[in-house]
Amino acid sequence: MQNPLVPQWLRGVDPNELDHRIWPRTAKRSENGALEIAEVPAAELVRSYGSPLYVIDQEEFESRLITVNRAFSDAASKVGTSAKLYYASKALLTAEVMRWVVDAGYSVDVSTGGEMAMALAAGVPGERLGLHGNNKSLVEIGRAVSAGVSAIVIDSEIEIERIASVAGAQDKVQPVRLRVNSGIHAHTHDFLATAREDQKFGIAISDVPELVAKIRSHSHLKFLGLHSHIGSQIFAVEGFVAAAERLLELHAQLLSGGDIPELNLGGGFGIAYTQDDHPMPIKDIAARIASAVAAKCRELGIAVPKLAFEPGRIIAGPAGVTLYSVGTIKDVQVTESGSAATRKYVSVDGGMSDNARPALYGAEYSATLATRRSAALPALSRVVGKHCESGDIVVNHAMLPSDIAVNDLIAVAATGAYCFSLSSNYNFVPRPAMVAVKAGQAKLLVRGETELDLMGRDLGLMPGGEA
Ligand SMILES: Cc1ncc(COP(=O)(O)O)c(C=O)c1O
Repeated sequence: MQNPLVPQWLRGVDPNELDHRIWPRTAKRSENGALEIAEVPAAELVRSYGSPLYVIDQEEFESRLITVNRAFSDAASKVGTSAKLYYASKALLTAEVMRWVVDAGYSVDVSTGGEMAMALAAGVPGERLGLHGNNKSLVEIGRAVSAGVSAIVIDSEIEIERIASVAGAQDKVQPVRLRVNSGIHAHTHDFLATAREDQKFGIAISDVPELVAKIRSHSHLKFLGLHSHIGSQIFAVEGFVAAAERLLELHAQLLSGGDIPELNLGGGFGIAYTQDDHPMPIKDIAARIASAVAAKCRELGIAVPKLAFEPGRIIAGPAGVTLYSVGTIKDVQVTESGSAATRKYVSVDGGMSDNARPALYGAEYSATLATRRSAALPALSRVVGKHCESGDIVVNHAMLPSDIAVNDLIAVAATGAYCFSLSSNYNFVPRPAMVAVKAGQAKLLVRGETELDLMGRDLGLMPGGEA
């Protein structure tokens, strides 16, 4: 009898199978049934770099950079314009990743001084950076202007004077965009259009003309255009289209005051984390957005502006896999709709400190047994971490072989975006290392943290401290 706790979308899933809509293309089982990524056995990676371990399939990441760039560039050129791509570094930021991104011709979107410092240190030229954030300090703005960033995205009226004064002091003209609170908010499958979305980012549509006039009145600012970002992990292309149309109406209105070269429509393109996720191919999304932009421009009688996009998750997410070791296992009896059901709790050596998304957003993931292929019956399992929180879930619903055992390795798919970046040291758990794999070779990108790293910041432990 089917376990009533198994969600519909997980029924009939073969626990040994690696669905390449979810797993990197190079993830496969070797002859002995063990998982390998880019021809490197998962077990070998854990032996060399420890567990848990973030693994990035370099080829998957690089090919996604190309596919996404091509999708938007081709779609834009079909409607007589161009598309500039900013990789959203908040998704995954390491020095090596910055090199892949820049080599693929991307610019980089950073949203804090820390991300900017990291990107610059990794060799990203200042003019390839765009700076975001709803609370940029004078220091951050000063560093951005000195670095010659290609755009600063203004998020509130206060920032207009702030950026103008910094640019003036450095005798520079700083290109800026204005982030608009378009009233469009998208969830995975649908979107909501209101007059003004109740959130912290951007400027209300009704205030935009006045603020753009203010920007234009400053000789040290150059107005590049409007910006919108309607959310993340979005499948509903209609949300992007609705936001683009709202922004273009404003854009057309503002043209009477001067040239506006660009329109930035942000990121947010969704990926498949589980069998339940069916994102539209990015080529189709790009084509739909570009043709809607062109149609709206025709209707408004204006030229199609240059377009800009800021994809993060769609590039980094599917390239990442996290490896964990199983520590404890228990079967928990649950009563569901009056009948008894069992959920297998499989505890691993990481958790919400290396992947906060299930706890933060109720995000679902897919897991597989990495050590071997198993012919045992699949058991509904929940992969949980080692933290002192009952919400410390790594994979909420997984079908794992019922003979899963202590010291087995588990691999979790699509962890390349917003896992390393959102990681923490909760419970003084050191953060895992990150390794890139390509064509049978592994390269350590970020070393694993040690307990000494964590203790090293506490002055009470220093000689002469109070401890
Ligand atoms: C302004 C902005 N641009 C781009 C992104 C990237 O979004 P995603 O990784 O979903 O593509 C974000 C993410 O929150 C964002 O806030």
